[in-house]
Amino acid sequence: MMQDCLVPERISNLLRTIWIGKNMIYLDTIDSTNSESRRRAAEEAEGTVILAEQQTAGKGRFGREWSSPKSKGIWMSILLKPDLSSIKIPQLTLIAAAAVCLALDERSLLLPDQQVKIKWPNDIFLAGKKIGGILTEMQVRDNKVQSVIVGIGLNVNLGEEDVSGDLIDKATSLYLETGRVQQREPLVAGILNYFESLYLQYLTTEELGETLTICRQKSAVIGRKVDMTGEKIGQAAEVLDLGPQGELVVKLDNGEITSLISGEISILLQDE
Ligand code: BTN
Repeated sequence: MMQDCLVPERISNLLRTIWIGKNMIYLDTIDSTNSESRRRAAEEAEGTVILAEQQTAGKGRFGREWSSPKSKGIWMSILLKPDLSSIKIPQLTLIAAAAVCLALDERSLLLPDQQVKIKWPNDIFLAGKKIGGILTEMQVRDNKVQSVIVGIGLNVNLGEEDVSGDLIDKATSLYLETGRVQQREPLVAGILNYFESLYLQYLTTEELGETLTICRQKSAVIGRKVDMTGEKIGQAAEVLDLGPQGELVVKLDNGEITSLISGEISILLQDE
């Protein structure tokens, strides 16, 4: 399948943002847009978006590799310099996940029986498989957040040839699930538009507000039994809700109700 390259001007024309994406750096090939944002963090303005056609060393959470074939997905990073305490930074992952869902819904790209889901905190799921993910990284100096990089990956037009091997049961793309090749530019713009609006809401109110509503509505885990790995290693739990800070409220097997913040754990749906 031949893939068109992104045209940054076409994205810019669709932006309704005040500052996110106003500075857009478009690259053909890079190791990782997150790594590149980090290298440029000191000199580039807040809201700078780095977008690449392909990544040669795309990164996922927990040091995993993120496959980013040329011109088939959205591989981008948003550079932020918020005046927030570091404990509030993981919330930006939820904001990005909500923005991706809203952008997909706005474009009505999915089939009538399909619903995009968020597997807390950072996986975007469609039809029980992963179509996207968020990787939020921050630089902290003297206890102060210097910069935050919100990396967003979305498998748009990946074909069967791109999700073979290990990925086959786990990953999919919009194209594979809907049978239609999708234009990437309006989706990029949509994600950035929604991201800015939810992010500004968060900065001004210090509450997740609408993000929380969307993450609850789209949750792939609320009401489900999960296995957790991490600090509470090996524990099984039932997910009850998302708390006001976006934390996962779970009931452990021993009946204890506790909340978990992202970064602490990784969860596996029990029938996965
Ligand atoms: C995950 O689900 O584990 C997170 C995946 C994040 C992938 C995106 S693609 C753009 C940005 N650059 C990277 O190297 N990773 C993120």
